Amino acid sequence: MKKYTFTVRAFALAGFALSIVGAVAPLHADEAPPPFSPRVSVFFSPFAHRDGQTIFRAVCQGCHMPDAKGATGAGSYPALAANPKLASAAYPALTVLRGRHGMPAFADYLDDAQVAEIVNYVRTHFDNHYADALSADDIKKLR
Ligand code: HEC
Repeated sequence: MKKYTFTVRAFALAGFALSIVGAVAPLHADEAPPPFSPRVSVFFSPFAHRDGQTIFRAVCQGCHMPDAKGATGAGSYPALAANPKLASAAYPALTVLRGRHGMPAFADYLDDAQVAEIVNYVRTHFDNHYADALSADDIKKLR
């Protein structure tokens, strides 16, 4: 009889312990990914931005660095700052559209106006002073 009581208690305790684990575990469990929602993913997309500075921060600076001075390490990322190759607007525009060696192409991710914005931005910032701005129409012709 005594043994039986012990067994019941042991089960009760084990059940109690499990219920605590059950109650606490979801807080630590990996959360399921949120359901796909185009509205949310466009909102968080690095390519959703419209102005040059924000596009630079979201898309370009990861490789070319926030000061646009580039970096050398696991790869080699040229400086966009004070870069004489930006004198011809077509050069950075085609680089952004088509990619160049280790740089990915962004033609499928940025529209004409966004490419014009980002190219105009880097050509007039970071010690670059090229005033001839590109329009979205110019980019359309380069595609
Ligand atoms: C994934 C990394 C990466 C990202 C993101 C990136 N680039 Fe690049 N970029 C590179 C690499 C690497 C090169 C050098 C390619 C080569 O070997 O000629 C380069 C080259 C360039 C060049 C040519 C520089 C020169 O001196 O020849 C320009 C202009 C440029 N990138 C602009 C941009 C702009 C603007 C953006 C944002 C829209 C951007 N890049 C995003 C990696 C990147």
